[in-house]
Amino acid sequence: MVKRILMVCLGNICRSPIAEAVMIDTIHQAGASAEWQVDSAAIGDWHRGKQPDHRALSTMKKHNLPYNNKARQITKQDFNDFDYIFGMDEENMSDLKSLAPAGSKGNLLLLGNFGLEKSERIIVDPYYQKGDAGFEKAYQQCVKACAAFFEQAVAGKI
Ligand code: 4NP
Repeated sequence: MVKRILMVCLGNICRSPIAEAVMIDTIHQAGASAEWQVDSAAIGDWHRGKQPDHRALSTMKKHNLPYNNKARQITKQDFNDFDYIFGMDEENMSDLKSLAPAGSKGNLLLLGNFGLEKSERIIVDPYYQKGDAGFEKAYQQCVKACAAFFEQAVAGKI
């Protein structure tokens, strides 16, 4: 059975596209692409159909991560279609919890709870920050968190 991962942030143009690209790369490096599907979505609808923020795109390009997906808003169906639904910060988590239909199968998880120090667990929204340092930081957090999650998932721990 293919396992499905959905990366979620507020706008789906900064953090969750990076998390999606990093998760795809992590799975690809492990030779497990046939067993996993990864997508991303937004809490809000403001950027539907758009490419990621140019700073997210340049950060992914710098790290040789291809990206062609476009922003979309999370749907009720997603909560049953995806096995693992990751938020980037506490606001995403509380939004996900209130949007999730009762009894839906998706496991709602804070991405930073995997492989990151307590002080680093929140992947901060870099959208309103000047420059691209916040995007690089989010990328670095995603690399550690995706690797740690994937290791636990293939070991059957989650
Ligand atoms: P993201 O960043 O949630 O990491 O994609 C944001 C992008 C856009 C907005 C907020 C956060 N916005 O308010 O438009």
